[in-house]
Amino acid sequence: MCEQDNRFQTMGQQFQRRSWAEPWKIKMVEPIEMRTREQRAQAIKDAGYNTFLLRSEDVYIDLLTDSGTSAMSDRQWSAMMMGDEAYAGSRNYYELEATVQEYYTYKYFVPTHQGRGAEHMISQAVIKKGQYVPGNMYFTTTRLHQEMAGGIFVDVIIDEAHNTISDHPFKGNVCLDKLTALIKDKGAENIAYVSIAGTVNMAGGQPMSMKNVKDLRALCDQYNIKLYLDATRMAENAFFIQEREEGYANVSIKDILKEFCSYTDAAWMSSKKDHLVNIGGWLAVNDEALFEKLRNMVVIYEGLHTYGGMAGRDMAALAQGIRECVNEDHMASRIGQVRYLGSLLENWDIPIVKPIGGHAIFLDAKAFYPHIPQDQFPAQTLAAELYLDSGVRCMERGNVSAGRDPVTGNHRFPKLELARLTIPRRVYTQAHMDVVGEAIKACFDNRNNTKGLKMVYEPEYLRFFQARFESL
Ligand code: F0G
Repeated sequence: MCEQDNRFQTMGQQFQRRSWAEPWKIKMVEPIEMRTREQRAQAIKDAGYNTFLLRSEDVYIDLLTDSGTSAMSDRQWSAMMMGDEAYAGSRNYYELEATVQEYYTYKYFVPTHQGRGAEHMISQAVIKKGQYVPGNMYFTTTRLHQEMAGGIFVDVIIDEAHNTISDHPFKGNVCLDKLTALIKDKGAENIAYVSIAGTVNMAGGQPMSMKNVKDLRALCDQYNIKLYLDATRMAENAFFIQEREEGYANVSIKDILKEFCSYTDAAWMSSKKDHLVNIGGWLAVNDEALFEKLRNMVVIYEGLHTYGGMAGRDMAALAQGIRECVNEDHMASRIGQVRYLGSLLENWDIPIVKPIGGHAIFLDAKAFYPHIPQDQFPAQTLAAELYLDSGVRCMERGNVSAGRDPVTGNHRFPKLELARLTIPRRVYTQAHMDVVGEAIKACFDNRNNTKGLKMVYEPEYLRFFQARFESL
């Protein structure tokens, strides 16, 4: 679909470009409107310069997150009408269980209300206090749940992931040397499990290769360590394997996803991303004893083990979303749209994380605002400026998101100081992407006049959601 089509070559005349379009048409619209600049200035001030605290109706184009913001298909909406809202044993639960088993290969399934519900339970179930949890870069909620269960997160992603301009095709890969060194140093019994995610959100939506997960499997087997997968954007990861890894060009996204999962022992999922639903998630494991434990925990924290916090209709839409997310045309257009926005910015030499990842464009705020030191929150500043310019909402993924070190209490000052423009699936058009690109260009042109921020309120956990700032 996204490829050039040679049928249009006529009489020696070759078109330079054949456009592609989304594999859907629009059946229902939600009106949006742009506020005046004065209204936006007031709104962002009232929100403490934190885009999470803006009211959605004050936002024109919302690229805060791709989480729970997708447009459902007509098939998903019709599935919602087939919700079996029984407290126990809903038909939709059994359908969802079978669908997860089919697409993700794991034997046992536990539904949860969203990803962090699953992260909470698996962390509490398997991490012993003081154990290490190596992973391919942290994710905010994942690491916090691991730490709250007594674990110590260690980043073992390859160095290229921390370099915004490295064009390594699989920047999400685990560095096997770093992992081996950690195992030898701390002892295999002190590793709770290896925690991997595909794609890696905080690295810029960068994928892991199939070779890397196979090698990891062998290494984990050698030391008898479990390998757990955050499968939140694993269908997008499968697209990159198909595109970039030798031997996978003719394998379907569905089969790549299955093969990847087959090398891991368990997975947790925020279905609000790949699965095209507004709420939902799950845990799936191969170990029966662990399953029994999780199935018992879910009734304390989420809901009965046959709904886990979801309504029957939510589970029905989710099962349909799983079938849709591995569709080749869907995925090509989803990633194609992210790349369209990214290539606009590249043409203007605006600093972004490369290669362009799966779910978002990440602006390199350190390079965008070299005059703003990291303790004046350049990425937070950029998110606030972009909203002010055009009503486009994005998210900080830098110093504020990284939080404080639990031992020293200091800012963590991550290498990557990024503003994330996250594209909801099937929601915006190419014209919206043009507006966003031009808004970023306007902020870039005005960069030398931009000043940083001061944090004036800081909550204890996941501070990026609720922190407040003032302009310097
Ligand atoms: N894992 C990854 C890789 C995620 O991106 C998220 C959420 C979660 C787990 C937690 O899932 O939100 O359903 O509880 N990411 C959202 C984002 C919030 O905007 O990137 P959740």
